[in-house]
Amino acid sequence: MMHFKFLRKKIFNPKKIYVDDVFLVSYPKSGNTWLRFMLAYCLHDIESESVDFHNIQTLIPDIYVGWPTNKKTRPRIMKSHEPYTPRYPRVIYLYRDGRDVIVSYYYHSIQRNQFDGTLYEFITEFNSAFGSWGGHVRGWLDREDITNTYGLSYEHLKENPFVELSNLLNFIGVKVSTARIKSAIRLSSFDNMRSIEKNKGLPSYLNANNQDFVRKGNVGGWKTELDIKALDSFMEQASDTLFWLGYK
Ligand code: A3P
Repeated sequence: MMHFKFLRKKIFNPKKIYVDDVFLVSYPKSGNTWLRFMLAYCLHDIESESVDFHNIQTLIPDIYVGWPTNKKTRPRIMKSHEPYTPRYPRVIYLYRDGRDVIVSYYYHSIQRNQFDGTLYEFITEFNSAFGSWGGHVRGWLDREDITNTYGLSYEHLKENPFVELSNLLNFIGVKVSTARIKSAIRLSSFDNMRSIEKNKGLPSYLNANNQDFVRKGNVGGWKTELDIKALDSFMEQASDTLFWLGYK
């Protein structure tokens, strides 16, 4: 019996791409929204003083929701989940321990009524428009020439956000003051993003039947979520990529 209710085939046909465009690419549930918030605070003068789940679409657009309409702000930074494509001129690739990703993706799918089975079933029947976690990561990072690609991990971002964000801004080619980077990190903390979600709500495309989008934000949460069977099954599919990335 298949437990997936539906799968959206979302492969996107990009519109005009400029040579300085930066695509913030990740496999779903790797912390993309958090990084978008931090970048939005660093790169835009936010008049309302707060980035939220509505205005983020204008600041760092998600290409599946809409292509950027603001033609003046360059470089443009856009969120994408596409598997490897050579069409993107510059790429920030955010990755996260695949075991935490799959757990997060499971709850995401349950919340949206896209899946109704167990975690084990989710892993064994897994099917996403963006391909497998390992294939996605390898497609973007395991290439001979990745000079246009800046890879960073969710775990490093949590451990040392200031250094990671500063390096990333260098890659993008923008100068941002230390004070501003620090304030972007503080304003985008897990607790702050959770209150923003509670106070200002989610747009319909993110709606999770009133459950949390900013859910747990843990590193290694998989250890208490995956039983041996589920873990074995995921490791069969992804252990080579996990070890290649340096995860234990
Ligand atoms: P969990 O489900 O493990 O909690 P994406 O934005 O790519 O869909 O990733 C969602 C994941 O990022 C969720 O992981 C979510 O809780 C986590 N997240 C959201 N905001 C965060 C923040 N400010 N700090 C750390 N993690 C955050």
